[in-house]
Amino acid sequence: MSEISSKEMVKFYAGNALPLELHKVRVVQKLHLQPIEQRYRALQEAGYNSFLLTTQDTYLDMLTDSGCNAMSDRQTAAMMLADDAYAGSQSYLRLEQRVQDIFGTKLVLPVHQGRAAENIISQAFVRKGDHIPMNYHFTTTKAHIEINGGTLHEIFTDEALKIKSSHPFKGNIDINKLKNIIETYGVEKIPFIRLEASTNLIGGQPFSMKNMREVRSIADEHGLMIVLDASLIGENAYFIKQREDEYKNAEISTILREMADLSDLIYFSARKLSSSRGGIICTNDEGIYDKMRDMVPLFEGFLTYGGMSVREIEAMAVGLEETLDDQMICQSPSFIEYFVEKIDELGIPVVTPGGGLGAHVDAKGFLSHLPQEQYPAGALVAAFYLASGIRGMERGTISSVRDETGNDILADIELMRLAFPRRVFTLSQIEYTIDRLRWLYDNRHLVGGLEWDAEPRLLRFFLGKLKPIGDWPQKLMEKFRNDFGDSL
Ligand code: F0G
Repeated sequence: MSEISSKEMVKFYAGNALPLELHKVRVVQKLHLQPIEQRYRALQEAGYNSFLLTTQDTYLDMLTDSGCNAMSDRQTAAMMLADDAYAGSQSYLRLEQRVQDIFGTKLVLPVHQGRAAENIISQAFVRKGDHIPMNYHFTTTKAHIEINGGTLHEIFTDEALKIKSSHPFKGNIDINKLKNIIETYGVEKIPFIRLEASTNLIGGQPFSMKNMREVRSIADEHGLMIVLDASLIGENAYFIKQREDEYKNAEISTILREMADLSDLIYFSARKLSSSRGGIICTNDEGIYDKMRDMVPLFEGFLTYGGMSVREIEAMAVGLEETLDDQMICQSPSFIEYFVEKIDELGIPVVTPGGGLGAHVDAKGFLSHLPQEQYPAGALVAAFYLASGIRGMERGTISSVRDETGNDILADIELMRLAFPRRVFTLSQIEYTIDRLRWLYDNRHLVGGLEWDAEPRLLRFFLGKLKPIGDWPQKLMEKFRNDFGDSL
């Protein structure tokens, strides 16, 4: 057990600690575990890109938690009460009230998903030549800031990119780097500081409240605005409760409110936060609100639906309330912690400590024989799908971009992300994931690299097609049949 393991809620007589499910399953969906030969065909058709696989060929869909978290009985019930209206829907008013209650922000704007919020925020505040400091980028955030002429500065601490670490808050901002950015570019070129809760691309790693308070005090000193990407704020609040002594007896609602009070503008993807769909921008500042408001009817829809269906709006309102429940919000982090600790014990390189949203396997360490130019994270995702039918996501150089001269900008870290949507998988499915990953690790020398077949110009990881260098997928398939006989 790592030093910062979460406190177990239920003790087992046998002395072991399992992340006990605190919910029961009442609606189920059939899954498809195809034979490896079919997985191979599907992988070829998908151009070795897990985004292009279908769920018909996928056993466990660990591509993302986005829009894939389980909904509660209360959420689905609320969807039946939805009040359909273009303007002034009661469903929207219920959602607005919930956002106001949780974040204490009186001004709320609805959008169809997180990146729509990023579009509006970037158009409203980012100008050519601006500089935006942040703990780390997210793909769509970066694209929206850059399309508006801004430059990102990732001012994470030295701990953030270490694969193996026991640091509880790898998502913290380095305060000295923040001061340097302000000194170098000047406040007038910095429209805001962006903080991302449970920082996605470095492994779902949280920042501490202490760090957020320090960022706030620097922001106040210079009159700078703080934008909080709250898409994974529930998990970040949970980690603050688990890992920051001062908050060990605090309610999640108190922690969320304090984080909100330290921000000037909050946005989130409700595909993540609230286990539904859609997104929200909220603030208490009328000046900030006025700069964005008119873009909502232009890009999203009227101010009382913002591109969302009323059913999604109702599910979001209930889902936000459920985020305040420790028993709900602990589910994904505790499964991730269970998985990460087991993988780590087996000597498989994985980002530690476990974070929110998923487990992140270190592809550079796993496939250390591959040069980064052959996309180890992409190759690992493809090989793992072949070995297991489990679909992960590449978070490495394929998810990066090229520089002006056409060369790949190599990613800081090459990760295979295995997302753990909330309350979706059972522990035996997680055991299967561990088992197949262990087999692949023992056979890692068989896995080769990837190269581009068709590379899109923008956000290439979504639709790009690749091909294997050599015939390694066939060799891996042969070894699988040797070891597992005719098992699936
Ligand atoms: N911010 C963060 C931190 C995110 O993780 C995401 C999406 C977005 C913004 C954009 O929100 O998808 O609703 O437009 N993350 C998903 C993922 C796509 O798989 O990690 P969106």
